[in-house]
Amino acid sequence: MTVRLGDNAPNFTAETTDGTIDFLDWKRGSWAVLFSHPKDFTPVCTTELGTVARLKPEFDKRNVKVIGLSVDSVASHHEWASDIEDTQGTALNFPLIGDEDRTVSDLYDMIHPNALDTLTVRSVYVIGPDDKVKLTLTYPASTGRNFDELLRVIDSLQLTANYKVATPADWKDGDDVIIGGSVTDEEAKELFPEGWQAPKPYLRILPQPGR
Ligand code: BEZ
Repeated sequence: MTVRLGDNAPNFTAETTDGTIDFLDWKRGSWAVLFSHPKDFTPVCTTELGTVARLKPEFDKRNVKVIGLSVDSVASHHEWASDIEDTQGTALNFPLIGDEDRTVSDLYDMIHPNALDTLTVRSVYVIGPDDKVKLTLTYPASTGRNFDELLRVIDSLQLTANYKVATPADWKDGDDVIIGGSVTDEEAKELFPEGWQAPKPYLRILPQPGR
């Protein structure tokens, strides 16, 4: 199944390192990041999971629950967890799904057989409090993800969910933003009475609202 932006996030029940989880029940009211890694006891995956564990307070601050997945068993995840703590300096502090029967991997199209026969690739889904898919990313097994970038995107998603703005290239929290293309100048005057800079009529720049 292909899961695309704006779709309702498919629900599932899965065995995890924190017990059985009904996904939508578990995330209710929160943002969520569902991400897959190819295999336990592999080097890039070990660094990725250690990085996510270290960044957990940053996800918490943004009301984002994080959950990982591979087709290895929950028992394997538990065994691997001590290696992650030993080598990455942070213990696993979020659930990992043991998707041995590939129910979730198939539901979210995380296995791309022409890239990595039977294992999950590095997929990321960001899901909003309304249970709709806000972001999808797919990385190959050979490239570890940049989770600071994921936090940056979440900052943009959360800002643009609350204000009629968009964020420019390389934006980070606190930088200037752009008035959304669907907002007329008339509407913008009401929404942003302090005004904006417009080097072109379609490029309307203003300080980040709400700060
Ligand atoms: C890794 O995490 O290093 C890895 C996992 C599966 C295939 C290739 C690399």
